[in-house]
Amino acid sequence: MVGVIITLIASVAFGREEIGTWVQHIRPTAVHKLLENISPEGTVAGTVVASPSRNHPDYFYHWIRDAGLVMDVVVSLYEKEKDPQTKQRLEKVIFDFLDLTKRQQQMPNLSGGVGEPKFLVDGTPYMGPWGRPQDDGPAIRAFVYAKLANIWINEGKEWLVRERLYDGTWYSVAKVDLEYVSHHWRNTCVDLWEEVRGHHFFTRMVQRRSLLEGAELARRMGDNAAADWYESQGHAMSAEIERHWDSHRGYIQTTLKWVDGIPYKRSGLDTGVILGVIHGQTKYPLFTETDGRVLATVHKIREAFKNIYVINHQGHRGVALGRYPEDRYTGYGDGEGNPWFLTTHAVAEVLYRAARGFERMGRIEVTTENLKFFQSLNMKDAWPGKIYSYDKNPHGFGTAVARMQQLADDYMAVSQFHMDDHGSMAEQMNR
Ligand code: NOJ
Repeated sequence: MVGVIITLIASVAFGREEIGTWVQHIRPTAVHKLLENISPEGTVAGTVVASPSRNHPDYFYHWIRDAGLVMDVVVSLYEKEKDPQTKQRLEKVIFDFLDLTKRQQQMPNLSGGVGEPKFLVDGTPYMGPWGRPQDDGPAIRAFVYAKLANIWINEGKEWLVRERLYDGTWYSVAKVDLEYVSHHWRNTCVDLWEEVRGHHFFTRMVQRRSLLEGAELARRMGDNAAADWYESQGHAMSAEIERHWDSHRGYIQTTLKWVDGIPYKRSGLDTGVILGVIHGQTKYPLFTETDGRVLATVHKIREAFKNIYVINHQGHRGVALGRYPEDRYTGYGDGEGNPWFLTTHAVAEVLYRAARGFERMGRIEVTTENLKFFQSLNMKDAWPGKIYSYDKNPHGFGTAVARMQQLADDYMAVSQFHMDDHGSMAEQMNR
C-alpha cells in the first residue's frame, strides 16, 4: 500500500505516465513478435529462432539460452491467460518446446552434454566450430520447468508435472538438466555473449537459481535425495558468486578465472551482470536489485557507456547501453560494438525492481557502495549513513524512489525512440 501511494504521488509529480502508457500500447505487439519466432515456417515444432534474419546476420537457429528465456515469458503468459483458447495455444507451444528439448538432450553433440548452445532449425545440433559448452542454457531451462511445475501443481495438475517434467527417472526432462548443472557448475564454460571461457556471474546466478528451485521441484515430487543434493550445490555456489564483487574497482566483475576467448575485454564491466541479477533471484537473497553492489555496477555501466556512442550525444532522452564497453561485435563480424535493446532494458528493469524493493522496505540506507549511485540521482544530502525512510522523511524517500523510476523510464525512452515503426527491435542499434 505504501508503495502504491508513493508510486502514485511520484508518477504525478514527475510526469511518468507517458512511458507507462507507451509500454502498455506496445505490449501486444511485443508479445505477438515474440510468439512469431517460435516454430516459424520451415522449422521443427518447438524451435525458437533467435531472429527471422537468415543472412545478414544469420540468426535462424535455436539457441538454448535464448529459447529458455523466451519460454520463461511464455510460461508467465500462460499462467495469467484467462481465455481458454489462447491458454490452450500457449500450452501447445510449451509442450512442443518440452518435446524438442527432450530429444535434443539425448543427441550426441560436440559439447558432449546438455551444454551445447546452438541447434539447427531441423532440431539437430550445430556441428561447426563454436564457443562451447555454454552452461547457462540448461540452467535457464531448469528454472522454467520449476516455475511451470508450480503453476500446474497449483492448478491441481500434478500428473502433468510427472508426465512432462519430472518423474524422478534419470531421463525426465527436468532431471537431465538439473543433474548436468549440479555436476558441472564448478567447471568453466563459455559466457552468455559466446566469447570468453571462464566463470561468469550471469551463468552462475542462473545455475544457482536452477538448483535451489529445482530442489524444491524434486522435493515436491518425492525425490528427496536429489533435492538435498541440488540444494547443497545451490547454496555452495553462493560463496563463489560473492567473489565477483570487486571492491577495488567498485563493480561486479563479469568473469573470474579467464581461460581463453577474446583478449580485449579488459574492464570486466558488463551488462550481462545485470541480466544475472534479474534472472538469478530466488527466495535466498544474493546480489538483489537493492544491493548497493548492484546499484554501484548500474552506475559504473552508465558512466562507461555515456561517452562511447554517438547516439548518446544527440540530445535524445536516456543513455543507450551495449553489452560491455570494449565490445567489437556488430552482428556481422568485428568493428565497433553497438548499443543493444535488451541490455538497455535490463538496466531499466533492475531499476524498476530496485525502486519497488525499496518501497516494500520503506527505507533506503546510503552506504559507501551505493553512494555514487544516489549522488548521481542528485540526492544532495546522500552520504554514507544517511537514511531515507518512509516514516521519518517521506519526502526524501519518495524523491529517491521516484528518481530511480525516472531513470528507468529514461532507459526505456531509448527504445521508444529507436524501435522501428512496426514495433520491431533488432538486436542492436547503430551506435
Ligand atoms: C549473440 C548474443 O551475444 C547471444 O547472447 C545470443 O545467444 C545470440 N546472439 C543469439 O541471439
